[in-house]
Amino acid sequence: MNLSPYSISGTLFPLAESLSSGILLHRGDSILFANKAMSRLTGFTAEELSGKPFWAFFPPPVCNTIRDRGRNRLKGEHPAARYETVIITKSGEERWVELAVSQEDIEGERAVVCSFIDITERKRAEAAQKQTQQLLTQIIDGDPVPTFVINAKRVITHWNQACEQVIGMSAADLIGTTKQWSAFYNTERPIMADLIVSGEIENLLRLYGDKKLRRSPVIDGAYEAEDFFPQMGEHGRWLYFTAAPLRNALGEVIGAIETLQDITERKNAETELLRMQADLEATVAIRTEQLLQAKTTLEEDIARRETAEEELLKRYAELTELNCLLQEAQQQLVQSEKMASIGQLAAGVAHEINNPIGYVNSNIRSLKGYVGQILELLDTYEAREAALPAEDLTAIKAAKKAADFEFLREDIGQLLSESEEGTERVRKIVQDLRDFSRAETTQNWQAVDLRHGLDSTLNIASNEVKYKADVVREYTDIPMVECLPSQLNQVFMNLFVNAAQAMPDNRRGTITVRTGLAGEEVWIEVADNGAGIPAAILDKVFDPFFTTKPVGKGTGLGLSLSYGIIQKHNGRISVSSTPGVGTTFRITLPIHHQAPVGATP
Ligand SMILES: Nc1ncnc2c1ncn2[C@@H]1O[C@H](COP(=O)(O)OP(=O)(O)O)[C@@H](O)[C@H]1O
Ligand SMILES: [Mg+2]
Repeated sequence: MNLSPYSISGTLFPLAESLSSGILLHRGDSILFANKAMSRLTGFTAEELSGKPFWAFFPPPVCNTIRDRGRNRLKGEHPAARYETVIITKSGEERWVELAVSQEDIEGERAVVCSFIDITERKRAEAAQKQTQQLLTQIIDGDPVPTFVINAKRVITHWNQACEQVIGMSAADLIGTTKQWSAFYNTERPIMADLIVSGEIENLLRLYGDKKLRRSPVIDGAYEAEDFFPQMGEHGRWLYFTAAPLRNALGEVIGAIETLQDITERKNAETELLRMQADLEATVAIRTEQLLQAKTTLEEDIARRETAEEELLKRYAELTELNCLLQEAQQQLVQSEKMASIGQLAAGVAHEINNPIGYVNSNIRSLKGYVGQILELLDTYEAREAALPAEDLTAIKAAKKAADFEFLREDIGQLLSESEEGTERVRKIVQDLRDFSRAETTQNWQAVDLRHGLDSTLNIASNEVKYKADVVREYTDIPMVECLPSQLNQVFMNLFVNAAQAMPDNRRGTITVRTGLAGEEVWIEVADNGAGIPAAILDKVFDPFFTTKPVGKGTGLGLSLSYGIIQKHNGRISVSSTPGVGTTFRITLPIHHQAPVGATP
């Protein structure tokens, strides 16, 4: 029954000793044979092993199982042939082994062959890996940031609690599946982690390009983006997500980890901020509009004030002008008052002078006739002188000589002519005085073109004017004016003669005659570039008898007469002058004559 170790040495021993796995042979309860590898594994020498019960180095309760199985095997049963178990070495160390058992007939007797493969290192590595795995799961699970992991086949391997809370899908439902899309979208499509794993950067750009996609600044190969997921939560959620590749030691991508950040509140705050900003901008726009309006109102106000100011200034100017006119009117009034009194005086003087000058004049005429007759008589005498005795003739000649008869004869005529001329001049002055003082006229009012009057008067005055000045006519169209034409001609004549007389001897002057229409009035200007009138005497020129001309040349009545005539026409006459430059007289006449109330037409 007992098998000697030597009996198997011939066949089994050399073979078994060459194996690296432990080989143990038992028959009955005791170990029949154990190879060197078995000694290495257990720490027992071949001698120590030999004869030991075959379950000796299995720890309880495994040893009982091993024992029972071994015994049953020897009885012909076939329990599990291969399993992993633990042995205790001689030093008390635990080692994992993979045990393969078979029964063999050796030298006609049944024996059990056990082979031991030391799998301690593998087991340790597995345990370590499992531990790491657990640690990783714990780390990921314990992370408050929603995080999930997929592997190279895009299968979800981790789905942490934060993820469950934020997304509302359980790890149990997702881990082991590829349904990561269902957490975010209604239809199947790759999510960012998928694209990181597959390396489809183009698709990443296509799907997330408009979601603020960017490369992670901290994790190599990772991307970040944000998006709104309407089906998440009650009103949808804004998520900010980062997906990073997971690499093995060779640098190959073996999965991806994606973290999520719920930025809904921040986004809402942003939206609220934008809304507030928009509100603010709208308010600012309204305020700006109001300000602009206020500014416009203010500007209008200022404009109104300016207009009012302008109006005021205009009024002021008008008032000033009115004041000037008033002063002028007052002057004219004073002048006309003066005229009236002087007119009365002149009428009296004229009347007084008229009579004597009348008879002096007629006497001179008679005297002239008489003297003529006397001279004729003397001629008759002279014709008879030859017949007179020489004595008488001598006496007559002596008397003639003594009387300077030849001179007398000539001078008498001249004296008479001069006297006649003198009285004529006096008569003319008296006539002027009478014209001047005459309150009303016998002439008829007629509508005439004053330009004709000006032209014909210039004709008559040509003798006075032509040696001293050129005449320039600047007429504009004027209507017919109701007037006393011959009296106005007298005025024009006086102005022309004055202008001509104002010209200096050493140069020819120019007399400019202008006409014009202003409203219901016609104006006439006679302007010269003569000596001008000193300011000191400018307001005296219309006074009767005021003259700066030598005796015989001026009477000082021309302008005062003119003044009276123009007044009679309800017109105005004024003068402006600059000494050394010239003088302008301006006459303004109403187109229609209005007979003063109670006056004879
Ligand atoms: N065009 C003029 N230029 C300069 N002085 C003038 C002119 N017209 C009038 N006068 C001045 O007015 C004075 C009065 O004129 P007027 O009444 O016509 O009298 P008269 O011509 O007989 O002197 C003149 O003596 C002269 O001093
Ligand atoms: Mg004169």
